[in-house]
Amino acid sequence: MAGARPRIVVTREIPEAAREVLHAAGDVWWPQPDRMLPTEELHAAVAGADAVVSTLQDRIDGAFADAAGPQLKVVSTVAVGYDNADVPALTDRGIVFTNTPGVLTDATADLAFGLLLSVTRRLGEGERLLRSRTPWSFHLGFMLGSGLQGKTLGIVGLGQIGQAMARRALAFGMEIVYSGRRRADAAVERELRARYVPFPELLAGSDVVSLHCPLTPETRHLIDADALATMKPSAYLVNTTRGPVVDEGALADALARGVIAGAGLDVFEKEPEVHPGLLELDNVALAPHLGSATVETRTEMALLAARNAVAVLTGAEPLTPVKGR
Ligand code: DGY
Repeated sequence: MAGARPRIVVTREIPEAAREVLHAAGDVWWPQPDRMLPTEELHAAVAGADAVVSTLQDRIDGAFADAAGPQLKVVSTVAVGYDNADVPALTDRGIVFTNTPGVLTDATADLAFGLLLSVTRRLGEGERLLRSRTPWSFHLGFMLGSGLQGKTLGIVGLGQIGQAMARRALAFGMEIVYSGRRRADAAVERELRARYVPFPELLAGSDVVSLHCPLTPETRHLIDADALATMKPSAYLVNTTRGPVVDEGALADALARGVIAGAGLDVFEKEPEVHPGLLELDNVALAPHLGSATVETRTEMALLAARNAVAVLTGAEPLTPVKGR
């Protein structure tokens, strides 16, 4: 109907600043109180929507688009990763899909490096010791960790977040190798003093392997029992991308048997569940998917997502579209 205000559905509560951007463009609905909508409720909620602002918890596929109806113009996810979305299914229906690259790069790399420091310097273990009121006293061999200076960081996926991780590692005196689908520009390699190596070489030669590739059918269980067996027994694994890139059962087993030295994990195969084996181990630093979880970053992400949705609703080009095919 000409002149009718667009209906904008937001699947999880987002910062006020982003809601204001959406309110100016249409009638905004979001679940109150905030909660994750099960599929049936999600489909009912998006019926009749012109735009949907979604999160990584929502399954965005053909059934979702059909439940929304033919007027749906844009799905704008408040995340950089979009393995939860069947983008070609949206593209085929003429629906634009957008994500939020760039604005969460530093926050995610900070968290990845924090997990690396936490596991190599045994911070969680030390805190658990103190909180359990276990008697302790300083001595020269007490709770020794592993230093980073001169060690090799193997980055899987030298995209924006992988590069930001490399910059932090350089400041700690680490050497950088990387592998991935594509080789980085020569200028990036020069700046990061990063050497492109085949994936098996990265696994075998790195003191730390940090995962920054997206989850795709090719990267699902990229780190499985066989891959772990080729890593150094002194090596650490850091995962801040998506849980299923790692076979979590195989990792728990490898950590328990000393196949590798430790891991720092922000993401899990079946979030919010965590493999019980990992919870038993001291050589794992765990965080509940906090990569982009700062006030500043989440505000930027939500604002970008809102601006993407409004751009499409008003016939303008979205700022950060995802190509469907
Ligand atoms: C993303 O954006 O993909 C992160 O996992 C959550 O911010």
